[in-house]
Amino acid sequence: MDSLGNPLALILTLGLLNCVSLSECVPNAQPQVPCFFIFGDSLVDNGNNNDILTLARANYRPYGIDFPEGASGRFTNGKTIVDVLAQLLGFRGLIPPYATAQKNAILRGVNFASGASGLRRETGRNLGDHYHFAEQVEHFRSAIQTMKRNFNGNDTMLTDYLGKCIFYVGMGSNDYLNNYFMPNLYTSSYQYSQKAYSTILLQEYSQQLSQLYDLGVRKAAIVGLGQIGCIPYELARLNNNTNNNKTCNDNINKAIAIYNAGLLQMVKQFNTKPGAKFVYVNTFESSKDLVSNADTYGFSVIDKGCCGVGRNNGQITCLPYQTPCQDRTKYLFWDAFHPTEAANLIYAKKAYSSASTSDVYPVNIQQLAMA
Ligand SMILES: *[C@@H]1O[C@H](CO)[C@@H](O)[C@H](O)[C@H]1NC(C)=O
Ligand SMILES: *[C@@H]1O[C@H](CO)[C@@H](O)[C@H](O)[C@H]1NC(C)=O
Ligand SMILES: *[C@@H]1O[C@H](CO)[C@@H](O)[C@H](O)[C@H]1NC(C)=O
Repeated sequence: MDSLGNPLALILTLGLLNCVSLSECVPNAQPQVPCFFIFGDSLVDNGNNNDILTLARANYRPYGIDFPEGASGRFTNGKTIVDVLAQLLGFRGLIPPYATAQKNAILRGVNFASGASGLRRETGRNLGDHYHFAEQVEHFRSAIQTMKRNFNGNDTMLTDYLGKCIFYVGMGSNDYLNNYFMPNLYTSSYQYSQKAYSTILLQEYSQQLSQLYDLGVRKAAIVGLGQIGCIPYELARLNNNTNNNKTCNDNINKAIAIYNAGLLQMVKQFNTKPGAKFVYVNTFESSKDLVSNADTYGFSVIDKGCCGVGRNNGQITCLPYQTPCQDRTKYLFWDAFHPTEAANLIYAKKAYSSASTSDVYPVNIQQLAMA
């Protein structure tokens, strides 16, 4: 008997024994969910901005210095949080950007995220073009039309299929960074209190999520905002005189906390709809943990970008062909705005498997996949 014809023999031959159940060991095991779709901004964009007119682009070195494909358009040195999540969910290979995905690849999921985008249309226009959340939802609508062919035009089957997939949605950072807290270019902070602004953002969010729900989305990970007041870009603005070495802008973090509290309520509200299984990913709590236990996680630099210019390496973000720091695993931030791959690995693992509801609520993404 040909030993390679026997799956178990093949596994033994390949030595793939660090797996728990046989199905995990089989080389072409299926992912835990049939597809994985992503909506968001530069934290998870994987190349959708590469061919549009914008400064919010990362398809040049040293971005991607630790990524097999090089500078793909990801705004970090290596993997983003959704790259890691896709791996943890058992997907082989990467989820492609919508901008360049093959039609037949859409069935297992695509990434609609766009750097500089926000919930509000005007957000990020200081950087150029991008696809804001409502446009990303429109792209999903088009993707569904393409997917219909795979189901012989049967909407019921397509909706059932989508209901099993996981949707990662992380919007809102730029509505603060490249809008509310940029008062020289945007009027929102004169028009709205922090509380009122969070309310209009969440109204927009809720409208778009309702559309996704109507299109068949049932399993969604809604991602809260991190401590934007502690990123190198904001620290560089705050620490503008040498007597000031603050490690966070408390006013910005206060506004973010108000928004996050409303977002959690919104997730709870969605879970009252039939079949909805939405989880809230508490990035704010996770980023606090990364900072307060930096040593344990192996980070020695938490207030400077690995690549960048000026105070906190945060005044000007990582420039083309700039030499980044040597040891990327010691830095929490890759550039003025974005975490390193090392930090993304921890964020993804917490979202996927943390047992604590202060990291991910009411269940983690692994449980969401099985639900
Ligand atoms: C769609 O598929 C379902 C399940 O296979 C089937 O029951 C239904 O009759 C189909 N609908 C149409 C319009 O073909
Ligand atoms: C320095 O930072 C403070 C606090 O963010 C700000 O109020 C002030 O206008 C800044 N000064 C300059 C010269 O940029
Ligand atoms: C602030 O940090 C700089 C650079 O690390 C240092 O030279 C300076 O003495 C610090 N200032 C204060 C007031 O701590």
